[in-house]
Amino acid sequence: MSLMQRFWVTLLGLTGTALSVAVLSLVACGGGSLSVTDTTKTATNGWNWSLPADFPTPRVPDDNPMTEAKVELGRFLFYDKRLSGNGTQSCASCHHQNKAFTDGLAQAVGSTGELHPRSAQHLGNVAYNATLTWANPSLVTLERQMETPLFGENPVEMGINDGNKSVVLSRVQADAQYPAMFKAAFSTEANPIHWGNIVKAIAAFQRALISANSRYDQWLQGKAALNVAETRGMNLFFGEKAECFHCHGSFNFNDQITHASIRFVETPFHNTGLYNIGGTGAFPEFNRGVFELTGKPADMGMFRAPSLRNVEVTAPYMHDGTIETLEQVLDFYAAGGRNITSGPHAGDGRLNPNKSDLISRIDLTAQDKADLVAFLKTLTDHDFLTNPKLANPFAAP
Ligand code: HEC
Ligand code: HEC
Repeated sequence: MSLMQRFWVTLLGLTGTALSVAVLSLVACGGGSLSVTDTTKTATNGWNWSLPADFPTPRVPDDNPMTEAKVELGRFLFYDKRLSGNGTQSCASCHHQNKAFTDGLAQAVGSTGELHPRSAQHLGNVAYNATLTWANPSLVTLERQMETPLFGENPVEMGINDGNKSVVLSRVQADAQYPAMFKAAFSTEANPIHWGNIVKAIAAFQRALISANSRYDQWLQGKAALNVAETRGMNLFFGEKAECFHCHGSFNFNDQITHASIRFVETPFHNTGLYNIGGTGAFPEFNRGVFELTGKPADMGMFRAPSLRNVEVTAPYMHDGTIETLEQVLDFYAAGGRNITSGPHAGDGRLNPNKSDLISRIDLTAQDKADLVAFLKTLTDHDFLTNPKLANPFAAP
């Protein structure tokens, strides 16, 4: 969390609830067959989104339009270790394509070895996230979010600071390929290699991280089948017994969505009963959710529901990576929270006074849980995980 972000939250006095207003087009879609591609969604500014019919066009800032040249430049920068202070880490060090752009660790580790309190997030369809990171109602653009990994000091991620900022920039300027790539991406500028454009190019690349071709998507389009267990799991997921869809029910399997033509954006956060230290409702320090920014008791343990796309490859789970497998996530929901019986975090999360009304004991059989896991695995998009256009351009062929 950068000081800048804390400053904005304080200044605006925002909380999750204050920001939450009615949403128009968040509808859980559990069935039906959508096979027509909406041609109005395929091209904006010459950028081809190639989205299925149930995916809206992402919102793009007016001052950072999508172009092939910019996205390609952003890809190089995303994977370039020279962009960290000590040259050891790129964005991709914590965001690996084969894991839907998370890193497989419970908690991320920065370029100088500092342990981040949270787990690196996957970046599939990140363009649609109404707020960014696990619990920050005021962080709403990819451009602003990037200040944290690049320049953040608490914890240090890429470790760029006032002392090395110009050195890092000169590495980019001195490169054989970058000057021409920046010129192609920002053709109206005489000296396009500067931090503002580095951030814009990486943000454009991230908006291009669209995951829309899982077997579930193919099933929606009538191009693939779901087996009996997966279908049972889907019906549980979208049904009132398991209630998953209340928080993971959008086309992106979450409940915070923004896009180009949305009128009202809803930004709910939830306490799922992961902790209840000493029965006080407390979560571990630095991981107290929206409370870290607002200090309001009602924001204790409030986190954003993550998109469940590609969830098969994004373990370990939750903001602090403390649940290792999808089977254990289902045990957690079936119990209606987590009871920690010993150690510094002991306390019965099922009884957390701030827990969401939507999280309570669910009577799920072993078969129900297995079916839900089978359904979640249909959200894996192998094209996204292997698409060469999103891959490391520096990797040996
Ligand atoms: C040291 C590991 C690390 C590095 C390096 C890193 N990230 Fe992250 N990333 C994280 C963690 C941890 C989070 C969750 C942060 C939080 O909730 O406070 C995150 C969250 C994000 C998010 C929010 C995703 C969402 O769903 O809201 C974006 C976007 C992102 N990172 C992009 C980047 C970019 C771009 C870079 C390079 C400039 C980068 N990251 C470098 C660890 C890292
Ligand atoms: C009240 C809203 C809510 C409901 C209902 C809900 N979830 Fe969640 N889900 C969340 C939130 C919030 C998180 C993140 C919690 C955290 O990290 O502290 C989460 C996290 C997850 C994760 C971990 C994802 C990751 O990337 O770490 C999975 C998997 C998941 N939920 C599946 C389900 C399933 C399956 C159901 C139905 C049984 C369900 N959820 C019901 C809000 C909800």
